[in-house]
Amino acid sequence: MYKRQDKDGIPLDGVAFHPYYTVHDLQAIGVFLFIFCGIMFFMPEMGGFFLEYPNFEQANNLKTPEHIAPTWYFTPFYSVLRAVPDKLWGFIAFAAAVAIPFMLPWLDRSPVRSWRYRGNINKVMLVAFVSSFLILGVLGAWAPTEARTTLARICTVIYFSFFLLMPIWSSIDKTKPVPERVTMDGGIGFWGSIGGVLLILVLTILPLQAVASSSYDCGTIECDEFAADPHDKASLQRGVKTYMNYCMGCHSLQYQRYNRVAEDLGIPEDLFHVNLMFDPAVKMGALMENAMDKDEAKKWFGAAPPDLTLVSRARQPQWLYTYLRTFYRDGNRPYGVNNKVFKDVGMPHVLLELQGMQECAPGPVTGDNGGVKRDPLTGEDILEDPCGQFVIPVAGEMTSQEFDETVYDLVNFLAYSAEPMVTDRHRIGMFTLLFIALFTVFAWLLNREYWKDVH
Ligand code: HEC
Repeated sequence: MYKRQDKDGIPLDGVAFHPYYTVHDLQAIGVFLFIFCGIMFFMPEMGGFFLEYPNFEQANNLKTPEHIAPTWYFTPFYSVLRAVPDKLWGFIAFAAAVAIPFMLPWLDRSPVRSWRYRGNINKVMLVAFVSSFLILGVLGAWAPTEARTTLARICTVIYFSFFLLMPIWSSIDKTKPVPERVTMDGGIGFWGSIGGVLLILVLTILPLQAVASSSYDCGTIECDEFAADPHDKASLQRGVKTYMNYCMGCHSLQYQRYNRVAEDLGIPEDLFHVNLMFDPAVKMGALMENAMDKDEAKKWFGAAPPDLTLVSRARQPQWLYTYLRTFYRDGNRPYGVNNKVFKDVGMPHVLLELQGMQECAPGPVTGDNGGVKRDPLTGEDILEDPCGQFVIPVAGEMTSQEFDETVYDLVNFLAYSAEPMVTDRHRIGMFTLLFIALFTVFAWLLNREYWKDVH
């Protein structure tokens, strides 16, 4: 660019940073803020990657989790660490994986700088590198198995060969001629870029699927679907009623206050006090604690009932919904019940009078592919699992549909309690996103105006 200057020494192909690049970058800032605020207001947990679920558990220094995953932006390097069988060498590989991108200026031997004018070897290497990096990232968040470790090793080799072999492949690759003047074209174009992204996604997802887990989200079974509705006040009111009647005796809700719940759910304080609180001496402004002694509780149940204020964010609502509906008779347990989701749970079946006692019956077996196993001749389900389905010999007060609705309301209430301001968050988020969208439109118009005359 410096070769072509006008008589004052100003490059012919240059434009001033301001206003051209300031307005140009305003658009990008708009897009960035839109995505950033979208995540912040509407999906702050990002499926447990951004705000990890254990953040909402009560700290317990006597319990070590079976698998501790680092934050998502460290997981690719963590995978490299685990892929190497030896601890010290694993650590060295891990540190090298972080440091090696800084060596790029010395490793890259291509005669042209811009990737737009490079040949096919460069493209292939880039696609292989990005896919293997993404695979390493996902693997780092999963518990290791043999197949996953093998995949991590392959990807680690690809990762390092990208850098270490770069002096070779970048220098032998053919390049396209670099134009004399600055141009707006070149590269692989819009559809080429989309195609490249799709190719990378396929190359990432297929190997991962091959080593994906076959374990279930809800203990021994799949979770039932659950979508909380924080706007449904009637459901939340029924939920708090069930909670106060059936759960509060053992589980506190000690990060909530009675009057906050009453106000949020639209229940007049006097009604709440008379109908939902069993100790008239407790004030409406008090925290929702209970009097159960933790040590005693441990003796009775084998485990103290945990506080439930945040349980729906630690466990997820669909887990709770499935858990509360899958207690069944098991004579070997102290309270005569077991649970499909939480095996050998200490909690008794507290909703027994409503649901009735479920008992195991032979039921269909789920195959490795997630489908139900069927008899190849008759096409009927094979009933091999001794506890594949439930029957209720003596009905409870509710039909099973009524019971499901009651548990829905209860879990809806627990989901509300884990984040009481969720409706405010969504409302503020809507306005924020609208504002940013409008701002971006104006930034785009302004940019178009300025750049009209630049060719
Ligand atoms: C008789 C006392 C008692 C009552 C009443 C009770 N629970 Fe429990 N609950 C327990 C105990 C004890 C545990 C701990 C079980 C364990 O760790 O083995 C527990 C565990 C739980 C858990 C699992 C928490 C976790 O993350 O490990 C949830 C969720 C739960 N209870 C919800 C409820 C709900 C909802 C109600 C009201 C319908 C309720 N409980 C009523 C005693 C009780």
